[in-house]
Amino acid sequence: MLPASDFTEQYESRINRPVLAKAADFQRQERLTHVIFAQQFDREMLDHLCSTASMIRQISRHRQGQDFLSGLLSHKRAMLYFTQASTRTFLSFMAACQILGMTCNEIRDPTTSSEFKGESPLDSMRMFSSYFDVVIMRSNMAKFAESCAYLMNELEAQGRRSVPVVNAGSGADEHPTQALLDIYTIQRSFEFTSQKDNARNSRFDQLRRRYPDLNKGLANKTYGFCGDVGRGRTVRSLTTLLALWEGVKFKFIYPDYDKLAPYQDMLARLEETGVHIEHAHSLPEVIDQLDMLYMTRIQHEHDTEADQQFFETFDATQFTLSTDLLPKMKEYCPILHPFPRNHEIPFDIDSDPRAMYFRQARNGMWIRAALLAHLFDVDGKIGAHYQKNYGV
Ligand code: NCD
Repeated sequence: MLPASDFTEQYESRINRPVLAKAADFQRQERLTHVIFAQQFDREMLDHLCSTASMIRQISRHRQGQDFLSGLLSHKRAMLYFTQASTRTFLSFMAACQILGMTCNEIRDPTTSSEFKGESPLDSMRMFSSYFDVVIMRSNMAKFAESCAYLMNELEAQGRRSVPVVNAGSGADEHPTQALLDIYTIQRSFEFTSQKDNARNSRFDQLRRRYPDLNKGLANKTYGFCGDVGRGRTVRSLTTLLALWEGVKFKFIYPDYDKLAPYQDMLARLEETGVHIEHAHSLPEVIDQLDMLYMTRIQHEHDTEADQQFFETFDATQFTLSTDLLPKMKEYCPILHPFPRNHEIPFDIDSDPRAMYFRQARNGMWIRAALLAHLFDVDGKIGAHYQKNYGV
């Protein structure tokens, strides 16, 4: 079998360009044509996707609304090409496709496809574009999704059939749609609303009595990222997006071991944007300072023998959110986790009102539906339907 790396070599010179030059290849005017990395999103686009996601969420509450949504893309077919393990990303993309009426098909095990007989991933990809209207893909190969997008652009330039490519996780480098659902979850958390809010008293008013400097929204907050900050791709993509807000501070909380530390390229990129960065090696020491806590698991599947030795004497309690830490956290500090979790968040935490991770996973379905609606240019129809039926 031709390794996918041969495939990415073909596009090396394009891959090595500055990120903004690359982003231009993945959009047409204001509309994205492929979703490959987090830098493709600006604040305006994020606000638009979050508001479309909220409209889809509300429209979906009623049968009539569901029928409207499922008519929007009922003429489109999606290929979910997931050759790396996935539960939430796979299922939420599938559910998102179904909300919009798309038919879904999947390849999860490459041994069941002709790649096992030596077919190049390039040929596989081109076949997908013959049969389907979008390819949503996860691979353990960094830059593979990006290469697939270049292939599609080449086909398009030749006047051949080309379809959008959506990166659902590529190697250790990017997971842009996870970052979207994380942003959507944080944005909703930082509205500080409650169903009990009324004209005289609101949750925000109550919080302000305790935290007089608290403001709504994502700006001017301290964000903590705890665990395997080096090998996890979700933190890389999320910090890229959070850096778009003013006055944000990042605290990276990770074991004092090179591989688990934030990579230099990410730190350099973030520092250029003016983000204030701090490092810590103990969650209990900094937890009271955080406005949001993003927990991650240790990615043991990447361990070498030397890493295994390190973990034999490793003190996981410093990177675990135990119940005794809860009273130290700010009353409003949302707890996120991309999942799967291992032991870093014990089940006892799940009933705490700050635990957002199940909502976060559900938000993935809404924001991915919003993203697909954007790619296929039906988000305007969703906005118009919403205005007509729910507008004030
Ligand atoms: C993450 C991933 O695959 O990068 N999972 C996810 O998509 N929610 C995180 C992980 O594997 O730890």
